[in-house]
Amino acid sequence: MEFLQNISLKPFNTFGLDVSARYFCRVSTLEELFAALNHAQELQTEVLVLGGGSNVLFTKDFNGLILKNELKSIEKIGEDEDFVYLKAGAGEVWHEFVLHCLAQNLAGVENLALIPGSVGASPMQNIGAYGVEIKEVFHELTAVHRKEGYQQVFNKSECLFGYRESVFKNKYKDQFVITSVTYRLRKKPELKIEYGAIRLELEKQLVEQPTIQAVARAVMAIRSAKLPNPAEIGNAGSFFKNPSIDNRHFLQLQNEFSSIVGYSNADGTVKLAAGWLIEQCGFKGFRNGDAGVHQKQALVLVNYGSAVGSELLQLSIDIRKAVQDKFGVTLTTEVNII
Ligand code: FAD
Ligand code: EPU
Repeated sequence: MEFLQNISLKPFNTFGLDVSARYFCRVSTLEELFAALNHAQELQTEVLVLGGGSNVLFTKDFNGLILKNELKSIEKIGEDEDFVYLKAGAGEVWHEFVLHCLAQNLAGVENLALIPGSVGASPMQNIGAYGVEIKEVFHELTAVHRKEGYQQVFNKSECLFGYRESVFKNKYKDQFVITSVTYRLRKKPELKIEYGAIRLELEKQLVEQPTIQAVARAVMAIRSAKLPNPAEIGNAGSFFKNPSIDNRHFLQLQNEFSSIVGYSNADGTVKLAAGWLIEQCGFKGFRNGDAGVHQKQALVLVNYGSAVGSELLQLSIDIRKAVQDKFGVTLTTEVNII
């Protein structure tokens, strides 16, 4: 395992931000992970685990050790009448794991096709798209405690999954390195095609009897049409979460803004489309230098080339303020600000 120093993180974050890391190493075995964590303790330096770097905004150079997770493997560890249990190394690319499931006819992750990033980050914010969240197929994960070095298994309830949330973003923030995730995939699919434009897209593709493969193709087509490809324009997907407000506040806003987009939550609150709120504040397609807001999706901040993290952060602060002033709604960031 090689410890590099002062290297550019531009290839390792999908915003394409050219910050440097004081130390950098790739870990592809548990032994390498333990050695890297020990070395960080000797250096008394902080550690940041990176998968695909698709949910981080670097606002400055990183003065610690970047641990690039490359723990790979996909293993069938169990099976019963209805389910197959697949254990995947945290460094597997998430979409490749989805393709593996599709090839084996295992259902449950088809709506999550084409989400960038790694398997290890999938539980971090309980990734979700098109009506499905990872918690629905999650079985358990294994993690290593960064300081003490012990391994711990977390089951679903211990992960405290919520909308773009888990215990690893809160109580256990920066305490563990996730090393593998076990998913419980269905042998017989339960298709979810009511969300968004999936059904329309299936019709467009002349699919009469949808399969998990067809649903994944439809999701990929919708995503490719709407979201910028990080290989072409730097971005980290939705910059903010969709905020929830109480029903009274929603009715007030609906009175004033009749086209407001809101979805009822089970607890009586209403989830608003942050993209709509941001667009109404005039930011869709906004550009200041190389920092901007995507033309087709106002929830996605973009780097057109040479923006720096602090410019994107400032833009996000301006957006938050505008949304707060116009609607009295507070946006919280989904992206991890470093
Ligand atoms: P990174 O960005 O590398 O890391 C994210 C955070 O997790 C960091 O705090 C990091 O330290 C931590 N972390 C990463 N791996 C580990 C580990 N093994 N152990 C401990 N901590 C770890 N997200 C969705 O939920 N739904 C979407 O539809 C979606 N669409 C997107 C579309 C685009 C174009 C882009 C660029 C992003 C999108 N995202 C979406 C966000 C992103 O893909 C997910 O959050 C993804 O899970 C991040 O994975 P990553 O490996 O790139 O994480
Ligand atoms: N909208 C606008 N203007 C915009 C963008 C959106 O008015 O510029 C409105 C539209 O009315 C649309 C609604 O917002 O109907 C919802 O938009 P969209 O379907 O694009 O989804 P989203 O709420 O913006 C969420 C997730 C995405 C996920 C999609 C599909 C969050 C924060 N984002 O986006 O996840 O892919 O739904 O399920 O929940 C991510 O987390 O990085 C991410 C991309």
